[in-house]
Amino acid sequence: MAIDLLARLYDPVMYLPERMLLRDHREYLVADVSGTVLDIGAGTGALFPYFAESATNGELTVHAIEPDEGMRTQAHERLHTLDLSAELVGARAESLPYPDNTFDYVIASLVFCTIPDIESALDDVARVLKPGGEFRFLEHVRGSGTLGTLHDTVAPAWFHVAGGCTLNQETGRLFQNDARFELLEYERFEDGLTRAVPVIRGRLKRRQPSVRERLSFG
Ligand SMILES: C[S@@+](CC[C@H](N)C(=O)[O-])C[C@H]1O[C@@H](n2cnc3c(N)ncnc32)[C@H](O)[C@@H]1O
Repeated sequence: MAIDLLARLYDPVMYLPERMLLRDHREYLVADVSGTVLDIGAGTGALFPYFAESATNGELTVHAIEPDEGMRTQAHERLHTLDLSAELVGARAESLPYPDNTFDYVIASLVFCTIPDIESALDDVARVLKPGGEFRFLEHVRGSGTLGTLHDTVAPAWFHVAGGCTLNQETGRLFQNDARFELLEYERFEDGLTRAVPVIRGRLKRRQPSVRERLSFG
């Protein structure tokens, strides 16, 4: 019940940030996507209208995973209002229910802050991406200096009121330092609306899996 309430509050709470900040970032995430795309932690389907727009420009098959039933219900509701067909399933990013080398794009939008095991999630993103495929991300991250210390202090309380969101997640380091990917683009925003909570976005290209990786895939 409380969980459902959180899901129902998500879109109203995000109404202003969506309009004032996120639109440009969401357009970046879906720019020129084609082929087969996976939206991990789709939430209420905030990216779906953007996929619908891209789908009119070319062939696009959209898959999405979302573990929270309340969020999933709203994502299904949003899908019905759009000219978009997407397969939406209940799953976690740490254990994606897809074979190796399935997707041309995997997109994470404001989701690694909520994933309990971000290393395992990135392992599974690497596994399901085709070689040459792209992982695109938009995430809020821990601030630097005094702001970072403030985030560390507030993070435990924030985790409880914000549905398991980790305010001081250091996701950028994880994404920048992974040998399985080539870093195509990485930007950090920390002015204006992002002064209190910095945001990163970027694109990583999946390299050919090494022999060692191929063996561990089984
Ligand atoms: C802040 S919302 C972002 C939703 C959406 N991507 C957006 O851009 O609005 C974070 C979402 O991640 C989901 N989530 C939590 N744990 C997850 C996990 N382990 N794997 C995938 N998604 C997860 C939550 O249920 C929630 O819907």
